[in-house]
Amino acid sequence: MNRPNSDFRGFSGTLARGRLAVGDTLRVTASGQTAEVSRIVTFDGDLPELTAGGAATLTLNKEIDASRGDVLTAAASPVEMTDQFEATVVWLHEEPGLPGRSYDLKLATQDSRATLSRIKHQIDVNTLEHHAARTLELNDIARCQISLSRPVSFAAYEAAPTLGSFILIDRFTHATVAAGMIHHSLRRAQNVHRQALAIDREARERQNGHRGKVLWFTGLSGSGKSTLANALEVALHERGIRTYLLDGDNIRQGLNQDLGFTDSDRVENIRRIAEVARLMMDAGVVVMTAFISPFQRERAMARERVGEDDFLEIYVNTSLEDCEKRDVKGLYGKARRGEIPNMTGINSPYEPPEAPDFVADAGQESLEVLVEKLLPVVLAAVEETGRED
Ligand code: ADX
Repeated sequence: MNRPNSDFRGFSGTLARGRLAVGDTLRVTASGQTAEVSRIVTFDGDLPELTAGGAATLTLNKEIDASRGDVLTAAASPVEMTDQFEATVVWLHEEPGLPGRSYDLKLATQDSRATLSRIKHQIDVNTLEHHAARTLELNDIARCQISLSRPVSFAAYEAAPTLGSFILIDRFTHATVAAGMIHHSLRRAQNVHRQALAIDREARERQNGHRGKVLWFTGLSGSGKSTLANALEVALHERGIRTYLLDGDNIRQGLNQDLGFTDSDRVENIRRIAEVARLMMDAGVVVMTAFISPFQRERAMARERVGEDDFLEIYVNTSLEDCEKRDVKGLYGKARRGEIPNMTGINSPYEPPEAPDFVADAGQESLEVLVEKLLPVVLAAVEETGRED
């Protein structure tokens, strides 16, 4: 949007497809509002019409709701919007693309969060054969399904390259990791609608007398996450707080029975846990999660999915040396003997949190002391404050 003074309100951009003339009726795809083109302003003065590829600032005959990144189309033939589509993706980065991981997507002027929800197949560029793939490696070309955090205007790449191509960006390094061409929207994007429910989170929290929260424990295997979460749960329960503990070893025997310990399985493990924790928080519960959750990106995704204000990251900071010394489950010993290929800390990475909300120094302090320190932090977070009645 362009507003050099209060009398002039213009919309600057490039015409992706077709032609546009003064008097045409346009529609903002996001809000659905329409207006007529009054002027087509360029550096060389006003034009009567604009052709594809041309850049200009448009003024309209009435005020409409449109903001940065919005797409304007001919009212009679609006472009579609979707939050799930199928695309061919070229992976451009050495760090592999993992289904379930969240990336930033740029499509023309629009931004969204994007997840590779499924890799349908990888394409061999020499033989054009299709292969099954679980991850995308550098230079891989694959047909994928992608889901977004919000709907965007789009077109099939063959019909309109500008609205049919996108890039994916790593959310930490900001490197471009992939480029893609859209084939079509997924039918489920049009046919699944959010159901509005009469009883909401706030009503449930009011009945419980405290807020729902997610307490996300992270640390090496054997660091004491489950022990600390368990002791904290007892203390909260005694105070009448509704709690639930999602524990890695237990969830992996049920909901996540199909997942192992490769990077991509761990990403999917954490994605599902973040979703479950969010639902339980919505049910008004104080949810504790005890998973190694070794990757910063997925912990950031969980924080974002749950919401910054509702998420406490608790780093159980026990050194690898101490975990290994105790080796409660004998896994470190096995890993050192080469019997476990992806053991966290030995031959699979652990990325410590950079700014956790609480650090539990389980090697230095007793369980009682840790609970004593953590409890007031949690009680303050779940307390009902600042709420209008
Ligand atoms: S996570 O990395 O995906 O977050 P999660 O917390 O669910 O891991 O599971 C970790 C538990 O699985 C460990 O406490 C341990 O008991 C068991 N485990 C089995 N194999 C491995 C492995 N290769 N690496 C880490 N933990 C393992």
